[in-house]
Amino acid sequence: MDAELADAFETAWRLLGRGAADRRSPMHTPVVASVDTQGRPQARVMVLRAADRAAAHLRFHTDARSPKCAALDGAAVAVTLYHPGEAIQLRLAGTARVVTEGADIDRIWTTATEFARRAYMVEAAPGTPLPGPGSGLPAGIDGRKPELAELVPARANFAIVRVEVTAIDWLHLAQAGHRRALFTHVGGDWTGGWRVP
Ligand SMILES: Cc1cc2nc3c(=O)[nH]c(=O)nc-3n(C[C@H](O)[C@H](O)[C@H](O)COP(=O)(O)O)c2cc1C
Repeated sequence: MDAELADAFETAWRLLGRGAADRRSPMHTPVVASVDTQGRPQARVMVLRAADRAAAHLRFHTDARSPKCAALDGAAVAVTLYHPGEAIQLRLAGTARVVTEGADIDRIWTTATEFARRAYMVEAAPGTPLPGPGSGLPAGIDGRKPELAELVPARANFAIVRVEVTAIDWLHLAQAGHRRALFTHVGGDWTGGWRVP
C-alpha cells in the first residue's frame, strides 16, 4: 500500500473505533443490510458496539428471537456508514455470526446498563403483532429501571452479532476530486487498491 492508501485504511478503522466508542459519532448507528430467509433485502439501523481492527470484527447487539437473527448467522452482510464531517463513506462487507453463549457475552450483558438490558425483557419476539401501540414489556416495567432480579430471564434473549469484515470500500468526497479505495481481508492480511470513485 502506498502512504496515502495506508492513511485511508488507518482513517477507516479510526472512524469505526470512534463510532463504537462515541454515541455522538455519526458512525455510531450504521445501516446493516442482509437478505432474509425469503431472499429479500432487509436493511436496519443498529448501534455499533465495538470495532476490533486486529480481529477485523464489528459487534452489534440484538434480540436472539428477532427474525434477523435466524437470517444473519453465517450470512453475508453489508454495513454502511457515513461521516459528514470527514465526508467519508465506508461500505463494509462481511460474514455475520450470532453468538448467545459464552463468558464474553455474559460479561457484555452484565456491564450493560439496566435500561439497555430492559429492551430484552419484551415478552414476545420483536415483530410480533400487538393489538395496539405498546412497548411489549411486561406490565409495570415501562418508564422505570428494572431490578436486577427482573433482568435475569432476559439474558436468554440477548445475542451479539459479530461481523467478520472481509472488505472495506472507502469513499472520500472532495471538491478537488473524490477518492475511492477498496481494501480486502484475505487469509489474515489486508490488501488495498485505488478505485474510480
Ligand atoms: C438509532 C437506532 C438504533 C438501533 N439499534 C439497534 C440495535 O443495536 N440492535 C437491534 O437489534 N435493533 C436496533 N434498532 C432497531 C432496528 O433498526 C430494527 O427496527 C429492529 O431491530 C427490527 O429489525 P428486523 O426486523 O430486521 O429484525 C435501532 C434502531 C434505531 C433507529
